[in-house]
Amino acid sequence: MSYPYQIKSLESYNEAYKKSVEDPEAFWADVASNFQWRKKWDKVLNWNFKEPRIEWFSGGRLNITESCLDRHLEKLGEKPAIIWEPNNPEERTRIVTYERLHKRVCQFAQVLKNNGVKKGDRVCIYMGMVPELAYAVLACARIGAIHSVIFGGFSAQSIADRLEDAKAAFIVTCDGAFRGAKDIPLKSVIDDALIGNKMVKRVIVYTRTRTPVSMIKGRDVWWEDEMLKVTDTLGVEGFGDVEVMDAEDPLFILYTSGSTGKPKGVVHTCGGYMVWTNYTFVNAFQYQPGQVHFCTADIGWITGHSYILYGPLSAGATSVMFEGVPTWPDAGRFWDIVDKYKVNILYTAPTAIRSLMGFGLDPLKGKDLSSLKVLGTVGEPINEEAWHWYDEHIGKKNCPIVDTWWQTETGGLMITNLAGITPAKPSWATLPLPGVQPILVDENGKEVTEKAEDGYVKGNLCIKAPWPGMLRTTYGDHERCRTTYFATYENLYFTGDGALRDDDGFYRITGRVDDVLNVSGHRIGTAEVENAINMHASVVESAVVGYTHDIKGQGIYAYVTVTGLHGDEDSTRQDILQTVSRIIGPIAKPDKIQFVSGLPKTRSGKIMRRILRKIAEGQLEQLGDTSTLLDPAVVDEIKQGKL
Ligand code: WT7
Repeated sequence: MSYPYQIKSLESYNEAYKKSVEDPEAFWADVASNFQWRKKWDKVLNWNFKEPRIEWFSGGRLNITESCLDRHLEKLGEKPAIIWEPNNPEERTRIVTYERLHKRVCQFAQVLKNNGVKKGDRVCIYMGMVPELAYAVLACARIGAIHSVIFGGFSAQSIADRLEDAKAAFIVTCDGAFRGAKDIPLKSVIDDALIGNKMVKRVIVYTRTRTPVSMIKGRDVWWEDEMLKVTDTLGVEGFGDVEVMDAEDPLFILYTSGSTGKPKGVVHTCGGYMVWTNYTFVNAFQYQPGQVHFCTADIGWITGHSYILYGPLSAGATSVMFEGVPTWPDAGRFWDIVDKYKVNILYTAPTAIRSLMGFGLDPLKGKDLSSLKVLGTVGEPINEEAWHWYDEHIGKKNCPIVDTWWQTETGGLMITNLAGITPAKPSWATLPLPGVQPILVDENGKEVTEKAEDGYVKGNLCIKAPWPGMLRTTYGDHERCRTTYFATYENLYFTGDGALRDDDGFYRITGRVDDVLNVSGHRIGTAEVENAINMHASVVESAVVGYTHDIKGQGIYAYVTVTGLHGDEDSTRQDILQTVSRIIGPIAKPDKIQFVSGLPKTRSGKIMRRILRKIAEGQLEQLGDTSTLLDPAVVDEIKQGKL
């Protein structure tokens, strides 16, 4: 593979950026011509942010898996597409070549069809990080089914909500998943999610942990049995066929939290997403043919979709897929993997770096990290201490670090330095990629251009014009997409983040400005956690805020009023945690729960979160204006509980 659109110097970055703004259609037509299309597009871009309506490469026909698989077969067929590292380091590694991946994807595509899946159907995928997860995702894409991967840490209730929202009739899952010392009973969670569900017709179960599972006649089938029923010979019985899709047909739905209670199904489409994930992968990481790329995310999140699967595979790259966790059997696991597979690009999250920093340098002893060329971070702002540790001890001051800012909704990287090409600045995401036009606005949507006292321009981060990888809608509710992203400020996409800009035009993301928390790089809406807490029988009401957490970036702090304690405070606390686990999943469990006799409210009944945030941070002397409080005594009491 060669990447003629790979930017090789600061000058060509500037040129590319300029062209992408002045003539986006010509710019993206050039890039898009490097992919496999069945029919070329009629029009590169149609858009307005009012409705919103965004169409890239309309009239174009393709199947994304042909760019990810088929086109590599001739030259890269024998090369590893996926290197799979099992949870248990003593288990056998699996190396999946492009040829093998193609074959397995085509086989499973046939399995899906045999089980009644058709173009446009939604297939929910709830699996651990095994190669079969990649096969399932790509097989959906191959037949034009819309995949919706759900992270293994979500509860039965969360799955049930997503199944209903997506109106999904098909599920692919595993009996269980290995993660560190744990064995997660995925199929049993699915069984709970399906109680009362009338829509799901088929559940396909891949055997991983051999934990006992209940298989319901007429509904549940084994992956292995189904695979045996289909040919694996190209050309026989249509084996290898693809569904030819419109560029704007949906490729997948991925649910993400917002400031309101219910997660939204972000929809990405085939053509633009393909171009964007590939372009950003090749440019930010400066991927060179033959290199080994290791993105440590789970495929249940957008990072895994875009930078374990679609971006690397469309570039013919070798992508490492890791089943386990960074700290099991010990905190040297990432470094063992880098050493074992001679990883060239390591892409991980600040929370992982901070947690590994805590183990000191011992886990690094004897690990050869000299293959590393580029390091990346994503998910939350990276603090300078973690940045320098990553630079010094992992990159040995020899590897550029790319700090990549983006979102589930953006499909791929948006603001990031290009490794070794554009300058890095610790804790700054730096410059927008070609095609990305950021703007900082004040509360009224007016552009901010004046510097604040600290010398930076400060505002809410918006994007002025469309880029190929942006979301098109939220599944089943286009109005929700409009109000969430396009209605806050007229004619702008609002990210929900605040940012600073320096004199060089570099951006630093300061964090969410809405009621969304970022816990270990995962987005969690405060309203969602409150709803879950409020489900507990003894809870009257609750208010959830974030606070600075050394490892997670943000921790979850809940103020709760109860009708009475069941047992003592601690056992009631445990019951509430269990409730949140059941309703959302263990990832949303509050780190701290403080029982209070009332919440601070304004006279009109609004909870004053600003004050609760300060108290959670321990800034008891800086509560700001409290004159609008209905009952100031409540605040004194909460403060005392805190002391
Ligand atoms: C939110 C998006 C994009 C994949 C992982 C998270 C925060 C993301 C950075 C970064 C500072 C970052 C933002 C954003 N974020 N990357 N490099 N620096 N903040 O995806 O769950 O959709 O969350 O993560 O607040 O809005 P997500």
